[in-house]
Amino acid sequence: MYRTHTCGELRAKDINLAATLAGWAQTIRKFGSITFVDLRDRYGITQLLFGEELSAQLNENALGREFVLQVNGIVQARSSKNMGLPTGDIEIKVKSFSILNKSMTPPFTIQDDTDGGDDLRMKFRYLDLRRNEVKKSLELRYAVSRAARNYLHENNFMEIETPFLIKSTPEGARDFVVPSRMNAGQFYALPQSPQTFKQLLMVSGYDRYYQIVRCFRDEDLRADRQPEFTQIDCEMSFVEQEDILNMFEGMIKYIFKQVKGIDYAEKIHRMTWEDAMWDYGNDKPDIRFDMKIANLKSAFKRNGKIAATGELINGAGFGIFDNAETVVAIAVPGCIDYTRKQIDEITDWVKRPQIGMQGLVNIKCNDDGTFKSSVDKFYNDEKLKAIAAFANAKPSDLIFILAGTEEKTRKAISELRLEMGRRLGCRKKEEFKLLWVLDFPLFEYSEEDNRWVARHHPFTAPKPDHIGTMISNDPVITKAAEYLKHPYASIKANAYDMVLNGNEIGGGSIRIFQRDLQEKMFAALGMGREESLHKFGFLLGAFEYGAPPHGGIAFGFDRLCSILGGSESIRDFIAFPKNNSGRDVMLDAPSAIDEKQLKELSIQLNVK
Ligand code: AMO
Repeated sequence: MYRTHTCGELRAKDINLAATLAGWAQTIRKFGSITFVDLRDRYGITQLLFGEELSAQLNENALGREFVLQVNGIVQARSSKNMGLPTGDIEIKVKSFSILNKSMTPPFTIQDDTDGGDDLRMKFRYLDLRRNEVKKSLELRYAVSRAARNYLHENNFMEIETPFLIKSTPEGARDFVVPSRMNAGQFYALPQSPQTFKQLLMVSGYDRYYQIVRCFRDEDLRADRQPEFTQIDCEMSFVEQEDILNMFEGMIKYIFKQVKGIDYAEKIHRMTWEDAMWDYGNDKPDIRFDMKIANLKSAFKRNGKIAATGELINGAGFGIFDNAETVVAIAVPGCIDYTRKQIDEITDWVKRPQIGMQGLVNIKCNDDGTFKSSVDKFYNDEKLKAIAAFANAKPSDLIFILAGTEEKTRKAISELRLEMGRRLGCRKKEEFKLLWVLDFPLFEYSEEDNRWVARHHPFTAPKPDHIGTMISNDPVITKAAEYLKHPYASIKANAYDMVLNGNEIGGGSIRIFQRDLQEKMFAALGMGREESLHKFGFLLGAFEYGAPPHGGIAFGFDRLCSILGGSESIRDFIAFPKNNSGRDVMLDAPSAIDEKQLKELSIQLNVK
């Protein structure tokens, strides 16, 4: 028997017990003729004490860090207790040992505060995974998946696997493709999500489906994106939007309780997409803090009309505001003491290429009711007071104003709001705020292709009272600039996202389940009849055999784990992640393949 106990198990109550442990030598400390070794396994660390004779044997064997050891000994009380360790009251007085395997000196220390950089840790990920930090992340991931499975099982969902080798039908991201040897010149694609399969399962009558499933998307990577990632993918039949929101509100709260011990008692806040864009400049607002945007002037349409015309700021002779499409402000609480240097630094921050603004206007709201502003040449105290009131600013607040084109400026103010929230300490890792964002637009306009694209995906249903607008209008746009006036721009979808602390952790929709509406949708997206039959004939066909009304949602499992674990990066929660260039540096993948393999696949490369 290799072990009687794990390295995290023995306590003071076990003193005098004979025990056999096996694990890795984390640290080796020599004190004169005796040696202490911290033996580590998945469950913890136990101190081993080697007496004089055994210490000499250890020396002969040149015991080093990460050697695999097995020891037999007796549990005894430690002379100096270690309160930081659950096993800190005891140690094993070793009677005999055997070295099960040697180890080279690891390229970085296997400790919480390791000296290994990112690349090195990824190259030796199997060593990185020995670290407690990383292990805790994987344990949390497992706890989330267990909780999700329990909840879904209890609610009658059935896990069904769907294929990975499918047909290429790129819509949002690019597909990863796989050449077929048996069908020369033809390719499979890896699924971006099991979307059409779960809908087919609804047609087949499996009215509550789920799958914790890998998805593959060839897109630009960021801290919260991996080329292969995992979804908790769900679909239900005979449901309306409200049924889905309630079911998955239940699931997320169950996960919070099981994994974090948090009772998220309040009903998840709901916000329309238009309100999110208007108040926060963003479709995934972080509502842990307020600091809403004041729309002084805006080209953004709200409830079908341009909602802010700029009457407070236009005509004062300040060309930047007069000529801007959009002028938006935030009142940053209590920041009146910001120095010139601090404001310059934030101005440089908004001028960075990622944000891309030309400059930043500020108004300081003095405690005595007067104002000091970078534009007080154009706006007297009375006007500044009106602007401050509009921005909901209080005495001692600092107002920041950005002006420019609609999309860029709204995005910039949203980023600035998040940045100021961060600087003010309003974005605490251990505070969790959930939000449903509802009523997304069905379509988005792609300037590049001069056509409509699906905001969520082409299977999303318009709101029932918007179906008429969709059916009775021709999707063609002649002039790009006109798209906002097109009736399609105002069609809303029965689509919803779940947002946690400013991150989109899930998204879904009620689906189209009638062939004619689905065909109209494909046509609206610029897909000819033949193309839509070629790509989605199977789904259109299925809709002719009694497709039930249905809808669903998919959660970004890695993202959910990283936020619950308090990390910015989903990589920490994936056992073997890719780096930002999509490479697995441990495997050195992707890599070239043999001539022979290429030949079998009938592929000729055109790479210089
Ligand atoms: P969607 O594309 O919104 O919806 O994806 C659902 C959730 O998956 C997560 N996610 C990602 N996580 C890590 N890396 C990525 N590259 C990545 N892309 C997306 C996000 C997102 O909210 N089939 C639909 C769902 C449905 O309609 O039911 C879908 O895939 O957290």
